[in-house]
Amino acid sequence: MSASAIQTESLSKSFGGLHAVVDVSLSIAPGERRVLIGPNGAGKTTLFHCISGTHRPTSGRVLLFDKDISNVAENRRTALGMGRTFQISNICTDLSVRENLQLAAFGNDRRKWVMTRPAGSFADIGDRVERSLQNIGLAPRADELVKFLSYGERRQLELALALNSDPKVLLLDEPCAGLSPSERQGFSRIISALPRDITLLMIEHDIDIALALADRVTVLHRGRVILDGTPGEVQKDEQVREVYFGRV
Ligand SMILES: Nc1ncnc2c1ncn2[C@@H]1O[C@H](COP(=O)(O)OP(=O)(O)O)[C@@H](O)[C@H]1O
Ligand SMILES: [Mg+2]
Repeated sequence: MSASAIQTESLSKSFGGLHAVVDVSLSIAPGERRVLIGPNGAGKTTLFHCISGTHRPTSGRVLLFDKDISNVAENRRTALGMGRTFQISNICTDLSVRENLQLAAFGNDRRKWVMTRPAGSFADIGDRVERSLQNIGLAPRADELVKFLSYGERRQLELALALNSDPKVLLLDEPCAGLSPSERQGFSRIISALPRDITLLMIEHDIDIALALADRVTVLHRGRVILDGTPGEVQKDEQVREVYFGRV
């Protein structure tokens, strides 16, 4: 078994003269839930994009289950077990929730070219879709057209779509952003109920949600890791309180 699900080695990313991520070495254990926090502009999304493959790092390496994926294209990382959410544009709003999940399931399946049978007739794909609906709390809305879903429900669907490829590692950039306080509560419960064997790396702006969901927290400040610790250690750390909470 690999020692880490995701690892970065001295990862740096600069945009011209701007050093967005500087020498970040992280190791996230299989099954761990890691939350990345830090003030605006700290480099969280940039680090995330280097891990997902959206950005090529300026220097350093990214490893997935000990395999160097630094030069693997973003779309190929899905096949290696890395999942992430995509914006709403990947969703067909004139189809139902279930149909969207069936389409996505076929996209990940070699049988997608067999057009002579209806999607639902492949039992294992049907099972996978029903499991996603249950996992993500959308089962009661399965037959609803996506255009009639609330914003929060669409975010749930995005998460279900990301789970469709059976990722071993799931990357979530501010999954609760834009949700109302009560939707946030619901969504963080859904995340918390995800299968424990999926390694989670997420950025979360809401410190209470972050500390509640995380096994470990990484704090970024000006592109660098200033602390890697348990939620309890993060709450106690004076430097973190100063840079993140703006008080000592
Ligand atoms: N594509 C880009 N081109 C130029 N500068 C960028 C780009 N993306 C991010 N930055 C800069 O990198 C720094 C870190 O940004 P970001 O990773 O988005 O921070 P965070 O997600 O922590 O708020 C910021 O100064 C931001 O302006
Ligand atoms: Mg960001």
